[in-house]
Amino acid sequence: RVTPPAARRFYHEKDIRPRNPGSLDKSDPAVGTGLVGAPACGDVMKLQIKVDESGTITDAKFKTFGCGSAIASSSYLTTLVKGMRLEDAAKIKNVDISKELCLPPVKLHCSMLAEDAIKAAIADYHTKNPGITASNLAGT
Ligand code: FES
Ligand code: FES
Repeated sequence: RVTPPAARRFYHEKDIRPRNPGSLDKSDPAVGTGLVGAPACGDVMKLQIKVDESGTITDAKFKTFGCGSAIASSSYLTTLVKGMRLEDAAKIKNVDISKELCLPPVKLHCSMLAEDAIKAAIADYHTKNPGITASNLAGT
């Protein structure tokens, strides 16, 4: 099977393991959890982010019950958001993911799941930390 160049770049030739599978402590106030499902196929993705006082994502984990494209999308997303500020992570679009992984059109909804998941995780973080808004985070 031919691996598209971008996917090969992300999943190095000999290391195709998903990055950052697992969970973060849901009860930690610094952790935002996004749990989303794809209406098109019934697949489910859980994405968790850990955010520091400055509003920067320091850790990210995923659990995905779905197809390979959904797993690759969430795996890539965790690597993408680590070190990103919340407001920048909120701007990630599914095409940023599908382009990197060279997903075919029929698999675009799998990357959409990842976009929905990061948005849901950020929303959960804000719900748990109502005092912290983008404008009063340190450094903004
Ligand atoms: Fe079955 Fe996505 S439709 S894994
Ligand atoms: Fe539905 Fe991939 S087929 S998430």
